[in-house]
Amino acid sequence: MENLAIGIIGGGQLGRMLAMAASRLGFKVIVLDPMVDCPAAQLCSDHIVADYDDEAALEVLAQRTRIITYEFENVPVATAHFLEAKTTIFPPSRALEISQDRLTEKQFFARCSIPTVPYWQIDNKQDLHAALMESGGTGILKTRRLGYDGKGQHWFNSAVSEVDMSKAMEAINHAPAILEGFIDFACEISVLAARSQKGVVEYFDIPQNIHREGILRCSQVPASIDDIIADQARDYTQRLLEALDYVGVIAVEFFVTKDGGLIANEFAPRVHNSGHWSEAVCCVSQFDQHIRAITGLTLVRPQRHGDCVMENLIGEDVAKLPELLGQENVLIHLYGKHEVRAGRKMGHFTRIF
Ligand SMILES: Nc1ncnc2c1ncn2[C@@H]1O[C@H](COP(=O)(O)OP(=O)(O)O)[C@@H](O)[C@H]1O
Ligand SMILES: [Mg+2]
Repeated sequence: MENLAIGIIGGGQLGRMLAMAASRLGFKVIVLDPMVDCPAAQLCSDHIVADYDDEAALEVLAQRTRIITYEFENVPVATAHFLEAKTTIFPPSRALEISQDRLTEKQFFARCSIPTVPYWQIDNKQDLHAALMESGGTGILKTRRLGYDGKGQHWFNSAVSEVDMSKAMEAINHAPAILEGFIDFACEISVLAARSQKGVVEYFDIPQNIHREGILRCSQVPASIDDIIADQARDYTQRLLEALDYVGVIAVEFFVTKDGGLIANEFAPRVHNSGHWSEAVCCVSQFDQHIRAITGLTLVRPQRHGDCVMENLIGEDVAKLPELLGQENVLIHLYGKHEVRAGRKMGHFTRIF
């Protein structure tokens, strides 16, 4: 039975929810994560406590599982290549490689003829100066790598001085970056789609996402966008999936502009926070669909059986729990994190209408 196991790299809440879905489909799950008490370890059949580049540990994971997947896009590319030579890893390492760097990600969107925000490559203060001159003095400086939940970003909301620029470069540790033009969007949406090993693509209904301080706060389904925009967003996503020969669930974040245009922000080669609502209103959640895709099971169209809003419980938001527990149209999902910290995602809930 051991070879029916799935390996998951990364044991955060996404790994935990993937493990739950995999268990429900009868698979055993082994997680690899350096943190002893990571959220996924609590419900996996085994936990390999090791760093993501520990080849001996990766070797063990490959031997003890049939397929490997991952829950975050910063898995070292060398790790993915190492595993690829020994076993099957989905989504493909190319998706990982491209999405790890905001510059290559934007170039790849362009190759697929998907519009992106205006951007400039920033390697030093001179580049930043020149880019801000062109952008009209505003924009968002983002590190090319390792940013998430708004981290590694510096916003220039109004005209800036040389001192501000130096501080911004300091704040991102002079890491390679890009400056993005600021988009005054009407709303943000994301497309969650899955592609099977045979190339079948299925889409979840499109959520509308509200961020505060760079962190997703809530996702509402359906989004208040018209069908033309929804079709366009799915079409862009399909192009990306085909170009990457993708297998698994992908999330593509878009800005909807006030004149009805669509601009790709970024993509995540994994299940995504803006798809959590699917566990509450679809028989096949994003986690189920991902496990189906990577193991070669049939994908189904994830029909939605209700309108809903998913809200994250971030840091002290967990104080809302007693009240939420008393509400019958709310599905609560906690991640088993013991320590409450500001900005830390502790759980989420989905209110069904
Ligand atoms: N160019 C932009 N114009 C306007 N808002 C932006 C822009 N880039 C990012 N944001 C806002 O910040 C949020 C987080 O930025 P994002 O690039 O998605 O980084 P992360 O990798 O941290 O999710 C976005 O969802 C959006 O609300
Ligand atoms: Mg984002």
